[in-house]
This record gives sequence, C-alpha cells and structure tokens, in this order.
Amino acid sequence: MPSPSPPSGMKPDPAPEPAPDPAAALPTAVVTGATAGIGAAFARLLAAESYRLVLVARDADRLRAVAAELAPAPVTVLPADLATEAGVAAVAERLAADPPELLINNAGISLNRSFLDSDPAAEERLLRLNVHAVMRLTLAVVPGMAARGHGGVVNVSSVAGFTVPRAGSTYSAGKAWVTNFSQSIGYAVRPHGVRVMALCPGLVRTEFHQRAGIDLSRTSDRWWLTPDHVAADGLRSLRRGRIVRVVDWRYRILVALLRVAPGALVRAISRGGAASRQPPRTL
Ligand SMILES: NC(=O)c1ccc[n+]([C@@H]2O[C@H](COP(=O)([O-])OP(=O)(O)OC[C@H]3O[C@@H](n4cnc5c(N)ncnc54)[C@H](OP(=O)(O)O)[C@@H]3O)[C@@H](O)[C@H]2O)c1
Repeated sequence: MPSPSPPSGMKPDPAPEPAPDPAAALPTAVVTGATAGIGAAFARLLAAESYRLVLVARDADRLRAVAAELAPAPVTVLPADLATEAGVAAVAERLAADPPELLINNAGISLNRSFLDSDPAAEERLLRLNVHAVMRLTLAVVPGMAARGHGGVVNVSSVAGFTVPRAGSTYSAGKAWVTNFSQSIGYAVRPHGVRVMALCPGLVRTEFHQRAGIDLSRTSDRWWLTPDHVAADGLRSLRRGRIVRVVDWRYRILVALLRVAPGALVRAISRGGAASRQPPRTL
C-alpha cells in the first residue's frame, strides 16, 4: 500500500532516531583462545569489569556457549583459526578497523615431542599460532591505540621461554620470542600512552597439557596455578605498567636462577621432559 503523502507545504515527520546502543559506549576487549583455560578466565574477568567482548577461537559452538555464560555482558564471537593466513587476516582486519581498548593475545599450543621426531607442518602450525598471530594482531592494534593515546596488549608468553627444554624446543623458543617482542614493543609504545606486556605463567591447570599429550600427573600441586589467578595477575600487572610479568613468586625465583645459572645446570634442567631422546653416544 502506498504511504499517504503529507498535505502540501508540510514536511513529513522525521523517522524516529534508533535508540542508542548502551554497549557501544563500553570499552572493547578482544581475547583470543577464549573458550578454555587462561583465555576464558580473562573473558570472565573483563565481562565483570563491563568490557564489551570480542572472543576468538576455532570452535564456534563453544564460543557461543561462553558468550551465553557471560550474559548479560555484550559479546561478539569471531570463530577463526589463527594458525592460518585466512583466519589471522580476517581477525587482524577487523581489529585494525576498530582498535579495541585491550587485546589479549592468548591462544597457543604446544607439541610434546623432540625436534628430532617432529614434522615441519606441526612445527609451522605452532609458530603460526604462537608467534606469527601474536605479531599480526599486535600490529593490527597498536598504531590505532597510539593514535588514540591509550590501549593495552597482553601477550600470553610462558616461563618456558626462559628455559631450553629438549622436548618442545619450538614452543619454548617461540615463547622467548613473545617475551622479547612484547618487551621491545612495550618500550616503543609507552611514550604514546599504550601498554604492551608479556605475561609469563608457569604451570596452569587448563586443557593445554592434555591437548599436547603432556603427562604432568606426577608434578607437585605446589607448582600449579589457576587460570583465574593468572588472568587477574595479568590485568593488574598491565595496569601497573609492567612490561614482563612472571606470575607467582616461586616462578620469579626460578626465572631469576635460570638467568644466572651456569651452562651445566641449564643442561641438567633441560634433560627432563616426557619426549626427550637420549643424547647420541658419538658426535
Ligand atoms: N597451561 C599452562 O600451563 C600454560 C603455561 C604457560 C603459558 N601458557 C600459555 O597460555 C596460553 C593459553 O593456554 P591455556 O593453558 O589456557 O590453553 P587451553 O586451555 O588449551 O586453551 C587454548 C585456547 O586457544 C584456542 N586455540 C587453540 N588453537 C587455536 C587456533 N589455531 N586458533 C584460534 N584459537 C585457538 C582454543 O580454542 P579452540 O580449540 O576452539 O580453537 C582455546 O580457547 C597459551 O599461549 C599457552 O602457551 C599456558
């Protein structure tokens, strides 16, 4: 049916303004690997602090379940495999277009195998997720944050980055990269009002070791941290302006010792690990 035209000389009533979305005024936080472990703990914490959340992981159903648990917090789910170029490019493009207030680069995996028994596809996949995606997403957001004069990035690294284990060499080397990278970017962006920090936990009870097939059932309870503790410590440390944060005093002592330990001790410590191979008898 044609709409009735107004009498001549009278302007039509303007269309009613859409009601403003109250969530649009909230700061945005993006969390990768938000469906389990440390990422899910960050998501819970940030939802309780009234952030608008963008959650990234591969499993779309699980992302939607996490979003439902966080209701009424406003949550957008972004299913993506950050170990692929298509996945990381889609997320990077989205973040660059509208840089969040906070980015938690958390998604990461490990491999429980000696490098001698590994294959290029698995090692490359680990590097693409644990290193390349961290670089791409950090680069997607920091220029916009610096132009705005505020914002923060937490790159979840690991105490493993300070060690040289014989199993999981690419994992520990990748985490050393994440820590060094975050420190360097952290110094570079600080004068622009932006914070970038490497968060280095030790052992945390999550799905991580099970996914990698690492059996730590004989590791003493005293070394285990909870995801909630790690996330809360991470957020507090970022706000205090830290650039590298090792979580928990026991691990801070361990890292301090590793930094000054003689080579023989570092070699002895690195001998552990389920998938270590015996050293060769001859050169
Ligand atoms: N747990 C520890 O002891 C420990 C210690 C030190 C550091 N860390 C670091 O902490 C971070 C989080 O680990 P976590 O222990 O919380 O692990 P987790 O419980 O296994 O959770 C991993 C998260 O990452 C997501 N993810 C895995 N592969 C992905 C991919 N290709 N693309 C996008 N998302 C992906 C998973 O969801 P989907 O499977 O659905 O993708 C999940 O949400 C990692 O960077 C890890 O290296 C962990």
